[in-house]
Amino acid sequence: MTRTVFVNGSFVPEDQATVSIFDRGFLMGDAIYEVTTVIDGKLIEFPAHMARLARSLAEIEMPFEVDEDALLAMHHELIARNDLDQGMIYMQVSRGPADRDFVYPADPKPTRIAFTQSIPWLSMPFIETGFKVVSCPDKRWGRRDIKTVQILWTCMSKVDAQRKGADDVWFVEDGLVTEGSSCNAFIIKNNRIITRALSHDILHGVTRAVILKFAKEQGLEVEVRGFSVEEAQQADEAFVTASPLFATGVVELDGVTIGSGKPGPMTMQLREAHIRESLKDGL
Ligand code: PDD
Repeated sequence: MTRTVFVNGSFVPEDQATVSIFDRGFLMGDAIYEVTTVIDGKLIEFPAHMARLARSLAEIEMPFEVDEDALLAMHHELIARNDLDQGMIYMQVSRGPADRDFVYPADPKPTRIAFTQSIPWLSMPFIETGFKVVSCPDKRWGRRDIKTVQILWTCMSKVDAQRKGADDVWFVEDGLVTEGSSCNAFIIKNNRIITRALSHDILHGVTRAVILKFAKEQGLEVEVRGFSVEEAQQADEAFVTASPLFATGVVELDGVTIGSGKPGPMTMQLREAHIRESLKDGL
């Protein structure tokens, strides 16, 4: 089946979708994106993703109105046309085509694209095995709270991690873990969940917020602060969160086994509660 994608208001077969070579997203990474998970044909945490999209666009002063109803209809159309059951929808808004200039064009015509990927998130082998991660210096730019498409250091680090036999990378800055390649990082010690505070240093994860809410509802204590690689290696459990991953256990960091070497019981409990609740609210 040929995939149907969305480009600037039209739904077209993927091999007919075109974007200008002058597009600033392509030339300068001048674009914002969001990834929304689809389970049972439903969008998970859609309003929160649209709120972050609007925030990211505002931070880079891109004049684009996030019309949540219209974008929801577009996402639903993509799900229907591609018969998507489990997977994700990637959506990107760039500042559009313009002659190459570092200064933003005065009257940009944003390029909007979106496409589906079918991925069986709820039966991936890593759910049971957990991730092995390696640490790596965080050499990304200083506004990681803005979800831009300029993520090359992330790609380089992840390739390097996989060459070392790991599944993913945890970035470290000033001795503390910032986050994973495309996920937020957590540890659990003595029933306390520890994760870095929101700032310009990390993406403000939609899943991070929901998991912390569940943790508090379940009476777990949350400590919002940075932690080092050494502290993580001594933790009872560790996990990452991201929309497609929900909460996924981390079982090894720089060759040191964390906890039992399997995704921990609290991680799995949070994961299951989150999946159950988010499916109820799926759109
Ligand atoms: N990434 N941190 C980074 C750097 C991310 O790229 C992501 C998400 C997260 C988790 O955010 P959320 O819980 O809102 O998905 C944290 C997406 C999945 C991606 O780039 O594919």
